Amino acid sequence: MSLQVRNLKDTIGSEVIASVEELLKPEVAAQVRQLLVERGVLVFPRLGISDEDQVRLAGLIGTVREEGEQGIFKITLDNKANAQALYLKGSFNWHMDGTHDQVPVFGSLLSGHVLSQEGGDTLFANSYAAYEALPQAMKDRIADLRVVHSFAYSMEQAGIERTPETEAHWNSIPDQTHALVWPHKSGRKSLVIGCHASRVVGLDPSESAALLKELMDWVTQERFTYCHKWTVGDMLIWDNTGVLHRATPYALGSGRMMHRTTLMGEEAFA
Ligand code: OGA
Ligand code: MN
Repeated sequence: MSLQVRNLKDTIGSEVIASVEELLKPEVAAQVRQLLVERGVLVFPRLGISDEDQVRLAGLIGTVREEGEQGIFKITLDNKANAQALYLKGSFNWHMDGTHDQVPVFGSLLSGHVLSQEGGDTLFANSYAAYEALPQAMKDRIADLRVVHSFAYSMEQAGIERTPETEAHWNSIPDQTHALVWPHKSGRKSLVIGCHASRVVGLDPSESAALLKELMDWVTQERFTYCHKWTVGDMLIWDNTGVLHRATPYALGSGRMMHRTTLMGEEAFA
């Protein structure tokens, strides 16, 4: 294998050393995909990949979602660069991307172009590993539960101001109900939770809130998480189907600018 790989934590994350040229070989990209599924997050330190090559690599790993400019979506809180910047503040809380879709995105490639002075680390939590490690009694308790995911709820959690405009946007994205435990075709199971998980169907509000908090606290324990402190030029890839993520808060005017390419989903929630 032409990839040099080093595990970052037992349960999550590998650092991969390879040149862009190597990564763009289809057989190498196939190895990257396999490693991504096994490890949840891959870190390519100081790769310095161009936008074109990032989209090309994404196309070898999966199917590129058409968004942003030619597959490059700018993650920034500067609303001159991204008209949807405000809602990205929601990314300061633990989340999965695409819980308002039936088929959530498979993953994303994210490269660091401009960093913030403070904050702006990206954290990942492996919900496959966290599910696996749950006590059997909890696995039994949650086996058949379903959870309502609400975009508006996640925006409220992030403290984003309710105005007629934001409210119209929030309400244009309907709630979705998904199984809390997602059995994948691979045979593995992950937990579908995050700041968008508004309530567990059939439980009274306090029991629902307590259970969601208990599971969030479990998944985001140190032993299931990896924190990436960025250097300009780093590229990360994460498997969104079994990894939660968040950014640590950074200032609106920090100039932080990440270029994201998103991989289309391949498997529906249960
Ligand atoms: C995202 C996201 C976190 C970050 O791109 O979906 O949540 O650190 N990004 O920018
Ligand atoms: Mn995100």
